[in-house]
Amino acid sequence: NDLYAVVGNPVSHSKSPRIHSLFASQTGEAVEYTAIQAPLDGFPGTVRQFFERGGQGLNVTVPFKEDAWKLAERRTERAEKAGAANTLYQDGAGVLTADNTDGCGIVRDLVRNHGVRLEGADILVLGAGGAVRGVLGPLLAERPASLTIANRTLARAQALVELFAPVAGSTQLSACAFDEPREPYDLIINGTSASLQGDLPPLSPEVIGEKTVVYDMMYSLQTTTFNQWALDQGAQTVYDGLGMLVEQAAESFRIWRGVAPETAPVIDELRDD
Ligand code: ATR
Repeated sequence: NDLYAVVGNPVSHSKSPRIHSLFASQTGEAVEYTAIQAPLDGFPGTVRQFFERGGQGLNVTVPFKEDAWKLAERRTERAEKAGAANTLYQDGAGVLTADNTDGCGIVRDLVRNHGVRLEGADILVLGAGGAVRGVLGPLLAERPASLTIANRTLARAQALVELFAPVAGSTQLSACAFDEPREPYDLIINGTSASLQGDLPPLSPEVIGEKTVVYDMMYSLQTTTFNQWALDQGAQTVYDGLGMLVEQAAESFRIWRGVAPETAPVIDELRDD
């Protein structure tokens, strides 16, 4: 079997080994996929050792996505802009290559799995950290009418606007504070880590309209803190990030194996765990 792994710290809770073994049995690919905990100061050594021993590809998770980006000798265009990498492999010439499939993952989950229309939509994105930077390029490529980045630290949102302005096309790209937006949006994406502290971004309830779709990039067995807030404000449609997790994994699998697994049965299976 060809060897793959997810590298993180901590990594024991990662769902990637389960997702990729479901992909492997579904497609009949000879893939073995494990989890590797790298020392916080030892990511490059862990990666080198993995490939020296014949490993074929790595997923990278918290807190190493930026280290993976730096370590790579070559980056795909989408990884370059994302400033972080979640997928590593050696190309035909043995060059360590980085990709980022997170943005592709959220777009596919929204569009294919949930039937959300992104083209022409007014999108509010909450947060301006690595998670948001990783998905902005693919979201903008769907040509929304507007994309507003709201963040606790306004300067970080403004920095992302500057960084992505060259690829915004006709999309109106702007930054603001959480309490500034007052109109209903078509789509609100929570990319903050506020709920990890049990916090909520202080949004006006007016951003939630009858048709607003709310998407939390986090997922959990229970409704996320943010999605519960949205439901309490009258939101009709809320999704968590489980589909994004499976879709980004499927795109990594496709890059490594040249085969695109079906994601719906895997999402269902994980939901039932
Ligand atoms: P990640 O890789 O998860 O994006 P990050 O780069 O540390 O991690 O970014 C975390 C994001 O969540 C940031 O947008 C952060 O806001 P700041 O830029 O102001 O720090 C946001 N965040 C974290 N805790 C928050 C809280 N309690 N309330 C609101 N926003 C929060």
